[in-house]
Amino acid sequence: MNSMFISIITVLPELLEGPFSHSIIKRAGDRGLLELEIVHLREYGLGPHKQVDDYQYGGGAGMVMMCEPLDKCISELKSKRNYDEVIYMTPDGVTFHQKMANILSLKTNLLIICGHYKGIDQRIRDLHVTMEISVGDYVLSGGELAAAIVVDAVGRLIPGVLNDGTSALTDSFQDNLLAPPVYTRPSEYKNLKVPDVLLSGNESHIDEWRYHQSLQRTESRRPDILD
Ligand code: ADE
Repeated sequence: MNSMFISIITVLPELLEGPFSHSIIKRAGDRGLLELEIVHLREYGLGPHKQVDDYQYGGGAGMVMMCEPLDKCISELKSKRNYDEVIYMTPDGVTFHQKMANILSLKTNLLIICGHYKGIDQRIRDLHVTMEISVGDYVLSGGELAAAIVVDAVGRLIPGVLNDGTSALTDSFQDNLLAPPVYTRPSEYKNLKVPDVLLSGNESHIDEWRYHQSLQRTESRRPDILD
């Protein structure tokens, strides 16, 4: 059985508790398919105030996360297990997408670093980081929510996490197409009817209809992802 271990380094562990204690990611944990370890960087901070950030060389607004606490923390974690990737969440990273989630879901151990303020000292990136991921072209106040997005997208792909083994394969983006519209009961609501084909029981017609709907949606909303 494939199971995954993800360590997340953060200065705001509270921000990560909510997203991981519900729904599918919680179930992954309960089933022993995904273990999450939240590591509080402050514990590696310097001096009586457990300092983790400092002014940037060269001047300019905003603090930078210091080398020493991060290096100590990462080195200690690395001494305990072999990480397949050390990921730094940053708006200047490679934009996250479904194929990246698919690839990461096949790994065994991941370490994710959440940045804050102006980011982390470049030397930590040079020394330890193997992958830099952005969740989109906007700036969040920290890497935690971005890390939660990556863990959610990756965690739900681990075999056995979703009840329906095939449902992750039919998600939007898995085949460069957006998902088709979906309906559930009742078959008519406020004069709006579920398309007849979905009630027909004819599987090949249903597949064909869904494919065309996917194609249409993708053409109108996301022509950039069409092959
Ligand atoms: N930290 C701040 N903004 C971010 C983004 N867009 N993606 C990943 N990490 C971030």
